[in-house]
Amino acid sequence: MDKLTFPENFMWGAAASSYQTEGHNTNCDWYVEEINDKKLLLENRRLTDICGQACDHWNRYKEDYDIAEKIGINIYRTSAEWSRVFPDENQEDPAAIAHYRQMFTDLKKRGIKLMLCLHHFTLPLWISRKGGFENKSYIIENFRVYAKRVVEALGDLVDYWLPVNEPNIVAMMCYLVGKFPPYKIDKQKFRKVLQTVLEIQLIAYDIIKNSFPNAPVGAALAFQHYQPYRPGSRKDIYYANLEFNKMNRWFLEGLESGRLQTRKRRNKNKIHKGIDFIGVNYYTSSYLKSGKPAPFKDGEVFTDMGWLVYPQGLYDVLEYAHNNFNVPVIITENGAATIDEDFRIWFISEHLKAVHKAVEKGFDIQGFMYWSLTDNYEWERGYTKKFGLAKVDFDTQERILKRGGEWYAGVIKQNGFIPKS
Ligand code: BGC
Repeated sequence: MDKLTFPENFMWGAAASSYQTEGHNTNCDWYVEEINDKKLLLENRRLTDICGQACDHWNRYKEDYDIAEKIGINIYRTSAEWSRVFPDENQEDPAAIAHYRQMFTDLKKRGIKLMLCLHHFTLPLWISRKGGFENKSYIIENFRVYAKRVVEALGDLVDYWLPVNEPNIVAMMCYLVGKFPPYKIDKQKFRKVLQTVLEIQLIAYDIIKNSFPNAPVGAALAFQHYQPYRPGSRKDIYYANLEFNKMNRWFLEGLESGRLQTRKRRNKNKIHKGIDFIGVNYYTSSYLKSGKPAPFKDGEVFTDMGWLVYPQGLYDVLEYAHNNFNVPVIITENGAATIDEDFRIWFISEHLKAVHKAVEKGFDIQGFMYWSLTDNYEWERGYTKKFGLAKVDFDTQERILKRGGEWYAGVIKQNGFIPKS
């Protein structure tokens, strides 16, 4: 096959988050619940480990940036930890802010751009104790203070912003399937929380733009992709679309009016408020039969998360974004949990083929970020799932570039690759 070449200036990156890598974020809901209530956690999640030291990225960030440089990425995505910046209500930690400044200055000196997320799943404990996302006015008021402080203290180092990682997953995992704190299953709360996160997105957008009018602010959704179990069934197609809309469209189209867009179709020609780009986090697809989850099919392939590998889904999502919005797209997460490096290479190349096809069609896709730079703490699965381009030995904290990481380095160097098939 011919080489697939990506556009000039295409951004090649890797992503991570504060809680999953930094270690000892002792003032947030996840950490405290893991330490204090393991029984509750084991009931709610398939947790095997507590986060603890994670990758000790807080202290070893230079080692991780060395790996980033070795791979050759030109953009790194991570988050600031709200509970570090504000360990308590109205009580900021100047040392933590100074440390972030030091970290990000080091990154930027290496010629690597920074995409910074303000909230990646964890809440300060003092917020969660007052109801978290359910206490709308309280969380909004305090998020405003936090966002302003980060923008003021670190904004000059940030190239791209994401106010909230995966607003749809925050709402879904915390309030629809109950796997993330506060582990609730309540459809009404799910909607309300999604609405709150939407407002947070709009508030953060204004705060950032006020100080840095040219800094792109995006929204990174975990795009949920559904396939009709019976491809010819109108019922299955109807339900696959319905779920897709609820999980992906409501939020993005709601930004225009500030309300979740559950009914009317939006005016496609409008430029959206509250986003300059769409961040696509894409991992997998699932089947729906008459609206209910349906089994996978013979011969299908899965990652170690048990997630179906379905690169066509990434293309479908990119096409949806292109057809419905007037903003560029950056793939802000895509990757595989695996201990087989041939599998990882195959997984990335299949997904990059889908990205390339979308680029060829003329969709405005500006970059691709692999999840994740290093192995790290995988939420309800602990340390058992290996997404990294580099291995972390969690006993010694040694980092070792994997074969998948070497392969990705080659792709970046050539700004493309020759697919095997
Ligand atoms: C999240 C990451 C997570 C990854 C794999 C994404 O939804 O943003 O934090 O590690 O999926 O589960």
